[in-house]
Amino acid sequence: MSMHEIPVGELNKYVDPWSLEKEWAIACASDGRETNGLTIAWGGFGILWNKPTVTVYVHKTRYSKHIFDGAKYFSVCFLKAEDRKMLEYFGSVSGRDEDKMAGCGREIVTDAPAPYFADSRAVILCEIMGKSDFDAGSVDEGVRAWYQRDGVHTQYYGKVVRVLVSGQ
Ligand SMILES: Cc1cc2nc3c(=O)[nH]c(=O)nc-3n(C[C@H](O)[C@H](O)[C@H](O)COP(=O)(O)O)c2cc1C
Repeated sequence: MSMHEIPVGELNKYVDPWSLEKEWAIACASDGRETNGLTIAWGGFGILWNKPTVTVYVHKTRYSKHIFDGAKYFSVCFLKAEDRKMLEYFGSVSGRDEDKMAGCGREIVTDAPAPYFADSRAVILCEIMGKSDFDAGSVDEGVRAWYQRDGVHTQYYGKVVRVLVSGQ
């Protein structure tokens, strides 16, 4: 089924951003050489620098990290309920070991600012306005355990440039 564009203000009629924690999504990016995606359960949805913005948090150890660093855009793909296996695949296998974009067997749209899965429920396409690494030294004791080893997450601040949903 084809996807069509909606205004960003109507996104919550289709997807509840707060559901990301349980329903997950796949963030995809291409740096012009490689394309990859990773399952995400963290995301920030709001306004930054006066723009509707989605922030994604990619850990230093992810293969996706260098691709996001070289990309100008990323997508956040909310999949259909029956696609749980695909979310598990993108969240457990690394692009370091396997080409997940080919391995998943899904149609990937490549003529958009960022790659996305053609059969998603909703897709947010974002232009990266900036990025910054978490400062592990300044986080509260309650979350410090996340950063005892292996480095931190990088925040990618994505200005929403297009929102697509499936259906009529
Ligand atoms: C439910 C779930 C949520 C996840 N959320 C994030 C996230 O928000 N940020 C992140 O860096 N990794 C997250 N991960 C881990 C990556 O998806 C996982 O390490 C993946 O294999 C990385 O792929 P890559 O090495 O190809 O980049 C999550 C994994 C799962 C299963």
